[in-house]
Amino acid sequence: MKREEVMVPETEIARQRDFQEKIKAMFAARGAHPRACVETFGCQQNVADGQRIMGMLEACGFAFTEDAGEADLALLNTCAIREHAEQRVFGNLGILTHSKKENPEQVVVLCGCMAQEARVAERVRESYRHVDLVFGPQALWRFPELLWRVYETGKRVFSTDDEHGAIAEGLPVVRERGVKAWVSIMYGCNNFCSYCIVPYVRGRERSREPAAVLAEVRELVEAGYRDITLLGQNVNSYGNDLDTGYHFPDLLEDIDQIPGDYWVRFMSSHPKDATPRLFDVMAACGHVAKQLHLPFQSGNNRVLGEMNRRYTREKYLELIRYARAAMPGLVLTSDVIIGFPGETEAEAMDTVSLVEEVGFDALFTFLFSPRPGTKAAELPDPAPREDKQAWFDKLLEVQNGRSARIHAGYVGKTLRVLVDGESGDGEYPLSSRTEGNRLVRLKGDRSLVGRFLEVRVTGSNTWALYGEPV
Ligand code: SAM
Ligand code: SF4
Ligand code: F3S
Repeated sequence: MKREEVMVPETEIARQRDFQEKIKAMFAARGAHPRACVETFGCQQNVADGQRIMGMLEACGFAFTEDAGEADLALLNTCAIREHAEQRVFGNLGILTHSKKENPEQVVVLCGCMAQEARVAERVRESYRHVDLVFGPQALWRFPELLWRVYETGKRVFSTDDEHGAIAEGLPVVRERGVKAWVSIMYGCNNFCSYCIVPYVRGRERSREPAAVLAEVRELVEAGYRDITLLGQNVNSYGNDLDTGYHFPDLLEDIDQIPGDYWVRFMSSHPKDATPRLFDVMAACGHVAKQLHLPFQSGNNRVLGEMNRRYTREKYLELIRYARAAMPGLVLTSDVIIGFPGETEAEAMDTVSLVEEVGFDALFTFLFSPRPGTKAAELPDPAPREDKQAWFDKLLEVQNGRSARIHAGYVGKTLRVLVDGESGDGEYPLSSRTEGNRLVRLKGDRSLVGRFLEVRVTGSNTWALYGEPV
């Protein structure tokens, strides 16, 4: 698609603002003070989308509540990555039948990745008749118009066409107060890993203009955000669709020029597109956190091939060696899938041995979940669930031991952390993060939130460090 077709024109964004005004005026005419309950599932990209959705709702005159029962509008921003995520959403949708019975005026909205699946939209159309509006991620920027249509016609609205997807700049946003902020630098995915639903529900890869990303990061830094995460399904292919020769390392270098006291990190990185230049640029840029989330998924080359990941175990290990040489002390995390269809015990143990060999700081581990419509969901899958669970448990045992040992090695050391909030723990009431994004629970009072501090680590377990300011 041509660039001008990908960018939503300013006139369209202005039209959406008009719909926001119409909805606001409608409530004002009734003397109503509407409240919305927004619940987001899934990854950070979805969280960032949820903040835009809240921005649009706020512009429509809504305040927010966490109680769906008392909300005039209840919205579920969903995730389709595994079956369990979908089941949770259907459970929540079921609960909303009750609130709608008590308040028939309530508008129920289903959006996000699940809403983009034809199979889900059909099921909602037939069996969840209390849902008024369904739209997928590609229609997000048209939310005010779709919502107006629901209010105007009183009919159900479905906007779930399979679309390439666009880029809409200038949507309002409600961010979490605090020190952390998310910035989507690109949308969609072109990789079609054989197990994954994301390319089907989020459309094709499209990169925001560097100037738009830079302006947003600058604004966030000036507003006091201290920990900024750049988001994309594969940030390493940022810029490929811009055709200007400008790529992710260039963006990092330009962001690094923005003055201020802050860290910038990013996720996710696909190993097939990670380059030595990326690691050199990370090493050279003072604001770029020395932390890398580089999902490897499997340590076995046959399985990697079946997954359509387009790198080998050896290539992955080489990348890690280079990255560590460029950035000693680099904090490394990854995603792994156990139980891909046809995976044998020996192949799963190749994954375990890769984990042992690399020594990740933390791992996000998943049991394969078949997603209808993906290639892997069609493959024969002979291994019994109990076997996969045993391989999975083995992987966890190895990783948890490793995480605990790495954490124990920090006790007695002094680290720089950013205090990012309260922890709810009486003895260690503050939560903070190191540059490598490790959690450090801290002694101290809440006036320290938002500050960079030197802390001495006094204790540790598998998941966190404990410490006190020095
Ligand atoms: N784009 C990111 C990448 O390629 O690294 C990953 C995005 S996905 C939201 C996060 C993780 O979910 C993946 O890295 C993978 O480990 C896991 N995942 C995706 N599809 C899955 C499936 N069908 N079953 C189990 N885990 C899955
Ligand atoms: Fe899914 Fe692969 Fe795209 Fe990541 S790169 S979102 S795992 S298809
Ligand atoms: Fe994220 Fe789930 Fe969609 S992980 S991209 S919200 S399928």
